[in-house]
Amino acid sequence: MDASRGELLWWTVSLPNPFQDLYRLASPVPECVVVIFGANGDLTKRKLLPALYRLSYERRLSPGFAILGISRSPMGDEAFREKMRDAVARHLEDSPFEAEVWEGFAKGLFYLAGDLFTAETYTRLRARLDEIEAARRTGGNALFYLSTQPSQYEAVARGLGEAGLARGRGWRRLVVEKPFGRDFASARQLSRSLQEFFPESEVYRIDHYLGKETVQNILAFRFGNGIFEPLWNRRYVNHVQITAAESIGLEGRGAYYQEAGALRDMIQNHLLQVMATVAMEPCATFEPDAVRDERAKLLRSIRILKPEEVPTHAAAGQFGPGRVGGAEFHGFREEPGVDPESQTETYAAATFFVDNWRWAGVPFYIRTGKHLPKRVSEIAIQFNEAPHSVFGPERGRLAPNLLVLRIQPEEGISLKFQSKKPGAGMQLRPVSMDFNYGASFGDRSPAAYETLLLDAIRGDATLYTRQDMVEASWKVVEPILQVWGETRFAFPNYAAGSWGPAAADEMLARRGHAWRRP
Ligand code: BG6
Repeated sequence: MDASRGELLWWTVSLPNPFQDLYRLASPVPECVVVIFGANGDLTKRKLLPALYRLSYERRLSPGFAILGISRSPMGDEAFREKMRDAVARHLEDSPFEAEVWEGFAKGLFYLAGDLFTAETYTRLRARLDEIEAARRTGGNALFYLSTQPSQYEAVARGLGEAGLARGRGWRRLVVEKPFGRDFASARQLSRSLQEFFPESEVYRIDHYLGKETVQNILAFRFGNGIFEPLWNRRYVNHVQITAAESIGLEGRGAYYQEAGALRDMIQNHLLQVMATVAMEPCATFEPDAVRDERAKLLRSIRILKPEEVPTHAAAGQFGPGRVGGAEFHGFREEPGVDPESQTETYAAATFFVDNWRWAGVPFYIRTGKHLPKRVSEIAIQFNEAPHSVFGPERGRLAPNLLVLRIQPEEGISLKFQSKKPGAGMQLRPVSMDFNYGASFGDRSPAAYETLLLDAIRGDATLYTRQDMVEASWKVVEPILQVWGETRFAFPNYAAGSWGPAAADEMLARRGHAWRRP
């Protein structure tokens, strides 16, 4: 066996995250078939297939590997391969498409047409999996990936379960895309339905933010260094701002987005997970459940807003017409598939407090929005001001230290502090000390879906969310959803290309704070 292509394939030691290195060095990549439900959908074309191709290109998959796509459209294996070839070539973001690698990869690519609500589909799936297992030697291991409409999740789990596919010779895992429910009750109901057939330990709820290198690096930064953790608490931190700004609009997802809104789409999952990673207690080991226990504990410590607090602790916005990056855009209500009277928010901001000894009284401000001036996701930790200015009041207030963890783009970390301006006298000016991923590591970072798919194949659930975490985050956003659901907003209230509604600025101003302009 060629060791570089072999089944016992090891991660290279050059990955930037030391925790990842330690854990992954010991983990072989097993053989398996990845069964994608919703194989004709956008996510499969844009993210899943490019990520799997890239893993294959880097020889990170076992030779006993196959993909079986399932959707309603009738088509054969060859037509599916052609379709996926185009999609991968188009959506590979930062790596080359090589025809030769594709040829090898495509041999393990299969397709099955079927209606997900019919038992007969799962009988045919079973037969197809037997064939693939024999031909590709996938060892009976199967990763079922739900990339369908959420309304089909329960039917697929049931179909798999009743056809006897949830258990087998090898392991069987279920990966579930977001949104995981629409609220607390539906998320709990969904978990119960899935768990009828798959044990919780085999249910992998994906949150692609957790797979981003920079989000993982928060743990390395906090727990791999001795000097930051002593400052990481209410004595030194004044407040925290978590921003996920997008310059894009709905990208043809009007119908979905109109039902979801920014709070459900980004805050309930991605941004609360980021907040949990920033604020959680150190875990004793880097075992999957040790990390997830701490994240879950933090999510449970977020204070639940009372309905009467919502108007002052949260702000909703919807974009109207405007210019982003030099191009004209119409308002949300003019988007295809969107109700012209829509009350859906395309911008959401909230103030959360964590009720524990470390964070009592420290506001965590979170915001996200579509059609903001630029794409930037970051966490800004603002420290307290120096208690006394020895340089005298005439030189003005000293800007407090600021630590910015940049998730994307220009991934990195920067620390702002005061410095003496060269020249006579004592003039101070804020300067920054910067770490940039690209400059320090050179290597391309794996895309979130590459990391997460490989983790699921290896059975490492560290970066996946658990039922208790999902439920805790629904509890956090529910009062806001409820109050907003009963409010008639004067939408649109921000122009495309601006930094969001005035209400979000006022929310911070009430505590003497202001949003950063990243
Ligand atoms: C998805 C949301 O989960 O995340 C999208 O549904 C959003 O609306 C996307 O655009 C943002 O992801 P990223 O990785 O581009 O920040």
